[in-house]
Amino acid sequence: MTDARQGLTGLLDTEAIRKDFPLLDRTVHDGKKIVYLDSAATSQKPRQVLDALNTYYERHNANVHRGVYTIAEEATALYEGARDKVAAFINAPSRDEVIFTKNASESLNLVANMLGWADEPYRVDRDTEIVTTEMEHHSNIVPWQLLAQRTGAKLKWFGITDEGRLDLSNIDEIITEKTKIVSFTLVSNILGTVNPVEQIIRRAQQVGALVCIDASQAAPHMVLDVQALQADFVAFTGHKMVGPTGIGVLWGRQELLEDLPPFLGGGEMIETVSMHSSTYAPAPHKFEAGTPPIAQAVGLGAAVDYLSAIGMEKIYQHEKAITEYAVKRLLEVPDLRIIGPATAEDRGATISFTLGDIHPHDVGQVLDELGIAVRVGHHCARPVCLRYGIPATTRASFYLYSTPAEVDALVDGLEHVRNFFG
Ligand code: ALA
Repeated sequence: MTDARQGLTGLLDTEAIRKDFPLLDRTVHDGKKIVYLDSAATSQKPRQVLDALNTYYERHNANVHRGVYTIAEEATALYEGARDKVAAFINAPSRDEVIFTKNASESLNLVANMLGWADEPYRVDRDTEIVTTEMEHHSNIVPWQLLAQRTGAKLKWFGITDEGRLDLSNIDEIITEKTKIVSFTLVSNILGTVNPVEQIIRRAQQVGALVCIDASQAAPHMVLDVQALQADFVAFTGHKMVGPTGIGVLWGRQELLEDLPPFLGGGEMIETVSMHSSTYAPAPHKFEAGTPPIAQAVGLGAAVDYLSAIGMEKIYQHEKAITEYAVKRLLEVPDLRIIGPATAEDRGATISFTLGDIHPHDVGQVLDELGIAVRVGHHCARPVCLRYGIPATTRASFYLYSTPAEVDALVDGLEHVRNFFG
């Protein structure tokens, strides 16, 4: 054990937790135990979630909201039960505010399209402005660019400071009386920064703008209470929070969901249909056209149960300790530059860095030979790399099953990379 590891507090019992995750037992490259440090891209899945998916398909598989026979009713109860679980997990005032989508990207595109087709007072047009930030994932930039192109609205954004924080020094010029929507990430997927939600929401509320929060990198890692957040929309995805791929969530305030128009049309989202016109089902069904991702929602319900049984506050404290340790150890590596806050304060468990002149793809490849899985590239947040004048970063991200020993393995691996490239 290194000296720095002594005194680490708040860690979870990872030995027990890791037994739930079959993949973490895998070896690669002739028996090297996998060190999985890419949970920001997707988390590994516990046996409990895999079992829920299997049981659903083996015992209850049927379409939902349609059949009058037993297993169709069971499937519907499981699907709607997952909605109850997600609503409780985020402290939503009503289960009807939880819309199931395919992923966070679809959730954010749904908000952009709701507003794009809306009437006053929500209408986005050439006299209005949309605000986002330079540290967004592409999924919280491109939908707004598309909306701006379609409507003639002006797209504005907050820049980033050298330390990897949002530059809010000009907040009153960025968010103005013309702003219709402010959409930003709670935790950056590349920098790890946790953003000052309250300050941004206060300003948005002053001018009557709606607020949409991308919580993709927050929901898996901390208590997410949509009532405390006071946003209008919150988007996240299941696969980063030990759930399956193919399921995302959009939470929206009930009166907005009642007022705003649907985006996708089709079965299940209607009340009545004639050849001339249709009326729509109430939310959330209004926004869930077609057969939904049923098994995936059931899997997400199991994921929420799993995380809740451990406790989100405990998961947060574990990751905070690991992040503090990782920041300290990474800064010991010669030529390593953290891109983002070089501290454990107000940051998540995702750390991007560069290593001298060695290209991140080379870093990633040499680490892989040692069994260490990190993500390299622009992490679907290319404007951040442009901001810092770098082509890419290496990114290590941690989760409830990550251990200090894995941080040590990464640091040793980086020494190996440096030696390899002379
Ligand atoms: N959004 C995922 C990431 O940041 C894919 O890696």
